[in-house]
Amino acid sequence: MPDIKISPSILSADFGHLADEITAIDKAGADYIHIDVMDGHFVPNISFGAPVYKCVRQASDKIFDVHLMISPTDAYLKDFADAGADIITVHAEAGPHLHRSLQTIKALGKKAGVAINLTTPNDVLNCVMDMVDLVLVMTINPGFGGQKFEPASLEKIADVRRRIEASGRDIDLEVDGGITPVTAKQVIEAGANVLVAGTAVFKDGPEKYAENIQAIRGA
Ligand code: DX5
Ligand code: ZN
Repeated sequence: MPDIKISPSILSADFGHLADEITAIDKAGADYIHIDVMDGHFVPNISFGAPVYKCVRQASDKIFDVHLMISPTDAYLKDFADAGADIITVHAEAGPHLHRSLQTIKALGKKAGVAINLTTPNDVLNCVMDMVDLVLVMTINPGFGGQKFEPASLEKIADVRRRIEASGRDIDLEVDGGITPVTAKQVIEAGANVLVAGTAVFKDGPEKYAENIQAIRGA
């Protein structure tokens, strides 16, 4: 099994001090910085776009792990790349052509991820396993932080892990939603190696971030 990486979701950060929050989670041991972009259309919430994280890109040298919950994506992929994303993940349903979106991300020189929802059949991965660098399995319905982990996702995670092993490629298996030290143990056992966590990292303020990250990593 690959090393476990923690990708704190800045959706739970204090947006009034975003640069300082990113520096704080970097220093607290984050591996990736998870950036949730929402459009109020693909998901029922609006967060922020490329100009916002471009302004805070210099706050950390860590991997910017950009999770696009927008539809469609293709017209904006260059903006997200130029703003400083290292990994760009699109939802399988964001449309109209997943394969083309992933090709575009690769052509921009970035790592490409595909996100699957609880009800997305894993077979959507069939024709893209040779081009993805990350598969994101949602463990909640996307749109909001602080939701309860959905245990039905564990079987999906295990199935995606089998597909990654079969591909023989170095692909991150990321999970997102309701991750706590308790659910972290379950998703790691199911095969996840990148854990997104918002609420569980940012709770109790900056002096607790290192402890919170360690509690998840040590699960
Ligand atoms: C929700 C986002 C998540 C969210 C996770 O759609 O994709 O990244 O911030 O938040 P928690 O860890 O609080 O469930
Ligand atoms: Zn996310």
